Amino acid sequence: DKGNYRHFMAKEIHEQAEVVGRTLAHYVNFSGERVELPFELPFDFKDLNRISISACGTAYLAGLISKYWFERLARIPVEIDVASEFRYREAPLEPGGLALFVSQSGETADTLASLRYATAEKQHTLSVVNVPTSTMARESNVVAQTLAGVEVGVASTKAFTCQLTVLLSLAIAAGRARGTLSAEDEKELVNALIAVPGQMTEAIKREHQIEVLSRELSKAKDVLYLGRGTSYPLAMEGALKLKEISYIHAEGYAAGELKHGPIALIDETMPVIVIAPHDNIFEKTVSNMQEVAARGGRIILITDEKGALEAGLDTMATIVMPSVHPIVAPIINAIPIQLLAYHTAVFMGKDVDQPRNLAKSVTVE
Ligand code: M6R
Repeated sequence: DKGNYRHFMAKEIHEQAEVVGRTLAHYVNFSGERVELPFELPFDFKDLNRISISACGTAYLAGLISKYWFERLARIPVEIDVASEFRYREAPLEPGGLALFVSQSGETADTLASLRYATAEKQHTLSVVNVPTSTMARESNVVAQTLAGVEVGVASTKAFTCQLTVLLSLAIAAGRARGTLSAEDEKELVNALIAVPGQMTEAIKREHQIEVLSRELSKAKDVLYLGRGTSYPLAMEGALKLKEISYIHAEGYAAGELKHGPIALIDETMPVIVIAPHDNIFEKTVSNMQEVAARGGRIILITDEKGALEAGLDTMATIVMPSVHPIVAPIINAIPIQLLAYHTAVFMGKDVDQPRNLAKSVTVE
């Protein structure tokens, strides 16, 4: 049931504050201001030398964001692969290690094959899945469920932000176990998480501005997305979302890579979407934006109030997001990224819920 929405994708974008809140309630003790995982772990984060993550598509990009979190908060090295590569590359894995999988459906063929490989290699397996009865849930040692509810739109939206919520909770739990986070730090991070649903409700108020902007975007042949830190995987997610439902070619790049090739593409016909919350690497991203602007590139900047004030350059548009703790910024900034893709595709008359050539669940290689 689409409720009052034109498409499932719109409904699912708008549902995110609610389902992220529900997922959070499962992983966080609000009054205790700490993470409480709803399952026992058959291993101790303290004993791990690394985590190996595999997943596909949007779930892979959620995993890539969590790499930054696990490494920063828990100081655990993380390696991550798209599952179609992991399953065949015969990665050497130390017995007793942790292999982590992310999948909305829990049925994706390559991710499932990777899970089976990890099981055979004597890894502890932990899967972040949305469908608790799925094959991956059945075959994993630990199931970390996202409570996104049924996701119908082929473009993953609410599953993504719920995956991020669970992964950040896990990274905080890992940081506590490894002694890299003090109780004080944990409190701060948990409070940042608790604030997310409210901030998502605020973020969605930018929809009208984004809808108007989408008309411009729909004229583009190519779109470049840039970001640093956790905004880099989010840039790739933005590009994936746009290409899968509007069929406009888009690429996501680490902003620092601009000079190493993609800068050659910059001209006034290719919009450049920059995701740059005001964090410790904001200045670096600003200098990349200046490079774009100097070559006549048209910038759509997604930032917060402080970032908008300090960016100091002419943009085609600036989408000002609520000011949030930098750690949760990718969860909030997912919303404008999704809305941009959605409205562009709708404006172009595309079938956003069922894009051509794509299946909701990819159960064959
Ligand atoms: O069910 P899964 O999360 O394992 O699916 C993985 C990808 O197929 C999926 O995220 C795909 O990339 C989406 N269509 C992206 O919006």
